Amino acid sequence: MKLLHHLNPSQKVAVLHGEGPLLILAGAGSGKTRVIVHRIAYLIQELGVPPWQILAVTFTNKAAGEMKERVEKLLGGGELPLISTFHSACVRILRRDIHHLGYQPNFAIYDDKDSEKLIKEILAEMNLDEKKFPARLFAAAIDDAKNSGKRPKDMPAGDFFQQRVAQVFAVYQERLRKSNALDFNDLVMLTVQLFEAAPEVLERYRDRFRWILVDEYQDTNVIQYRLVKLLAGTRMNLCVVGDDDQSIYRWRGADIRNILDFEKDFPGVKMVKLEQNYRSTRNILTAAGKVVEKNRGRKGKTLWTENPGGERIAYRRLENEWEEASYVCREIGKFSRKGLSLRDMAIFYRTNAQSRVIEDILFERFGYPHIRGREESRDVCGSHGTVPWHDRSHPPGGTCLTHYSGNRLCRPAPGRAERRGPGSLVQPPGTVDRPRGV
Ligand SMILES: Nc1ncnc2c1ncn2[C@@H]1O[C@H](COP(=O)(O)OP(=O)(O)OP(=O)(O)O)[C@@H](O)[C@H]1O
Ligand SMILES: [Mg+2]
Repeated sequence: MKLLHHLNPSQKVAVLHGEGPLLILAGAGSGKTRVIVHRIAYLIQELGVPPWQILAVTFTNKAAGEMKERVEKLLGGGELPLISTFHSACVRILRRDIHHLGYQPNFAIYDDKDSEKLIKEILAEMNLDEKKFPARLFAAAIDDAKNSGKRPKDMPAGDFFQQRVAQVFAVYQERLRKSNALDFNDLVMLTVQLFEAAPEVLERYRDRFRWILVDEYQDTNVIQYRLVKLLAGTRMNLCVVGDDDQSIYRWRGADIRNILDFEKDFPGVKMVKLEQNYRSTRNILTAAGKVVEKNRGRKGKTLWTENPGGERIAYRRLENEWEEASYVCREIGKFSRKGLSLRDMAIFYRTNAQSRVIEDILFERFGYPHIRGREESRDVCGSHGTVPWHDRSHPPGGTCLTHYSGNRLCRPAPGRAERRGPGSLVQPPGTVDRPRGV
């Protein structure tokens, strides 16, 4: 079968798996998306599954677009399955069926700004001083609650703040409803509620989407998992591909247990590990392996590669953040002098608080004046919080970007909002980038 020519033995096993649940545990650059794409083609071309019976979900519009392109190329034309983000798949379902929940099908979708504005109004009505009770904190708390599938009535009666959150959440939800509006989290949450409230609607979608595939499964949160589980029903033709070592959204609701407990929830699951990496050098892979082997709660896999050893990784331990930033800048200077373009360099840092010093020293040393917004860079590293700026040595408006990247395992610390403006690298507290893609 031509389709299998460019797959390694484990990838083939995953692609050729027939009916029933399939958990593909795989490392970075091990061909996860390749497997999903080939499996879709296999289902259509070899098993004769009609494309419209297949639903493939991923986390960003960009990832969905890429997957679509790869499937299209492999199929060489013809009808495509629904390949989309969780949120846009839910928008489709809700536009058609939300009337079962008492909303109008032309509902509005509130973005973060709209939600925050509404929360501000509610706080003002409740006479809560925004200085003491910033709307963003409430927005984040409501966001967290929704990500784990909680409604206002499920909120714990905790301390003073938690009680206020529960109150604000209840009013907020009621206002949204009255305005026939949904926020981003509602899109998935209300789809789950719809399926739970209207079994005949759920049955219709189960009958339609008989094959479900989820890429970047480690990033699903509780409510997305519930959605997938509901849709998979007793047919359980559910294939998920994830990396238990790569869960970058744990801080905003992604639940690694979705991977670890998959076997319990889907009895008879077939598990395939993809351990061959195609992207990195041996040195990088070995170092990464040594770091992630310390992770708790992992299924465990050992990545290997046929790629060459590559350059050795340099490791420096420095006194403080200023020394770290100076060291990084000196290294950049060295590479630059050797003729390497800034567009080919990246700085990663673990928390956003670290970016400020790096930014200051870069500015001091190189005088980069203009740091662009981070929207366009979101997908660059597959993580969020990547901040690009224009390389001054290239013409303005050019495509040359250099990137800072923060793996946002932590929310930015409160109190970091002051120094904003054009040079801003750090997001204000409480604002979080999100893997949405509606
Ligand atoms: N069997 C294979 N033979 C040769 N190259 C492969 C094979 N499988 C994957 N690759 C290559 O490895 C790279 C990564 O593939 P892919 O994007 O599918 O991996 P991934 O695991 O989804 O990566 P990510 O962690 O970024 O999501 C691509 O360049 C792809 O062409
Ligand atoms: Mg991928």
